[in-house]
Amino acid sequence: MANNTPLTATPQWKALEAHRAALGSTHLRALFAQDPGRAQRFTFEAAGLTADASKQRITAETLTLLLQLAEARGLTAKRDAMFRGEAINTTEKRAVLHVALRAPKTSRIEVDGADVVPQVHEVLSRMRAFATAVRTGTWKGHTGQRITAIVNIGIGGSDLGPVMAYEALRFYAQRDLTVRFVSNVDGADLAEAVRDLDPARTLFIVASKTFTTQETMENAGSARRWLLAALKDEQAVARHFVAVSTNEAEVRRFGIDPANMFGFWDWVGGRYSMISAIGLSTMVAIGPEHYDALLGGFHAMDEHFRTAPLEKNLPVVLGLVGLWNNDFLGAASVAVLPYEQYLKRFPAYLQQLTMESNGKSVTLEGEAVSAPTGPIYWGEPGTNGQHSFYQLIHQGTRVVPCDFIGFCQSLQPLGRHHALLLANLVAQGEALAFGKTAEQVKAEGVTGALVNHKVFEGNRPSTTILADRLTPAVLGSLVALYEHQTFVQAAVWGINAFDQWGVELGKVLAKAVASELEAAKEPTLAHDGSTNALIRHLRARRA
Ligand code: F6P
Repeated sequence: MANNTPLTATPQWKALEAHRAALGSTHLRALFAQDPGRAQRFTFEAAGLTADASKQRITAETLTLLLQLAEARGLTAKRDAMFRGEAINTTEKRAVLHVALRAPKTSRIEVDGADVVPQVHEVLSRMRAFATAVRTGTWKGHTGQRITAIVNIGIGGSDLGPVMAYEALRFYAQRDLTVRFVSNVDGADLAEAVRDLDPARTLFIVASKTFTTQETMENAGSARRWLLAALKDEQAVARHFVAVSTNEAEVRRFGIDPANMFGFWDWVGGRYSMISAIGLSTMVAIGPEHYDALLGGFHAMDEHFRTAPLEKNLPVVLGLVGLWNNDFLGAASVAVLPYEQYLKRFPAYLQQLTMESNGKSVTLEGEAVSAPTGPIYWGEPGTNGQHSFYQLIHQGTRVVPCDFIGFCQSLQPLGRHHALLLANLVAQGEALAFGKTAEQVKAEGVTGALVNHKVFEGNRPSTTILADRLTPAVLGSLVALYEHQTFVQAAVWGINAFDQWGVELGKVLAKAVASELEAAKEPTLAHDGSTNALIRHLRARRA
């Protein structure tokens, strides 16, 4: 098997290293000058998205070599194994089938011999009925009043996807419904979310795959007390709490009737779950029809990823270009820069998707990885970032590849706003790639040391992703594009993108520290000196 050879020892990797050395510091100015067809050559289309990767520091040969590496690392076989429902999450012995969540009724996808598609559609039907009942006011609160506020309580994948999707699709949301999200165990999050809400008109969606996550359970318990303090009847819980989970026993234990539970399955990873029942708040907000369009967008990108030739396959090409930047150009981070206010939470969502997936340092076989893995994802909507951190991207000492995301048509046309927004998107990519030479600066009359301050070196890579309009379908395609890029990179690195053991230790230690912070009697502390001192300081000052 190819994966038994350390990645960096494979002939395909060596070929890329040699190619990288030969490319040296060849400037994007030269690459564009040499190849007039470059923009077309490196523009790819899929599922309503167009991505121009021509401002990446690649040549046709780079892509050929990257594709050879991907093939040698078994990308196609690994992708097909995922779509077939094989247990590719080997450390948790689970299938990875978020693609089944958006598969049409007519498809058949098996896990352990059972077709999961009918189960998916059964839950979707229940979600549709519930969402419609809330939206139309048929679902009443305990006192007979209509629900006007939805509060989703969850964290990580049970929060970031729903918040991102709600913000992204707010244009399509039913505006007389207030939708809020509580994730942090900091009581301020819940307190601020509910302070102006009427308990009799508020519905909580407790979203947790495991239904044991400390933050979510604490928030859900406090939300329950908040409700009961006002409505003063345990029976009220049934009309004001619904659960989204894979764990029926814990849902019951919390006191939520399983009739008000929407299930999903262990083959859906938390960060890949935004269109499982975890998307209930999204469906209530935007309605079942828009939600179906969202699923359609995901599925269109899934089909593209599954069937398109690798050299035209958008997630494959962008995933490999990202790996090139990370491993051969030494770019340790990726800035995601949506020129679209509605996508303001998209970078935060991508952080969990990409970093919890590919922040790994051992291979599937448990060996140390031989190349840097998951880059750091970060970002803010344009144009705000331009007046904050873009300086470093333009003139700093680090290479920060950028993903610019924009839409040809605005959902909120207002005077010149959208033209200016798009002009900035285009200008930033141009400035990063081509920069400004000392000669150009001098030609403007600048002299002396100031010249160097005003030089823009350029040669800074970016990809521009465009769609006509931010619709539910386009959002689905965009998210699936990043999901599959993450998969492509993990496949080449030979790591498991679907477990997250790295979050466990902190959870365990926090439990121990909580009991020490809350102990009535001074506890005997057995941590390191720093941790002991911090706990003593907090105990002394907390009161
Ligand atoms: O932080 C670890 C994690 O397990 C994430 O992967 C997950 O999205 C999050 O916690 C929330 O988990 P749950 O949905 O089980 O509450």
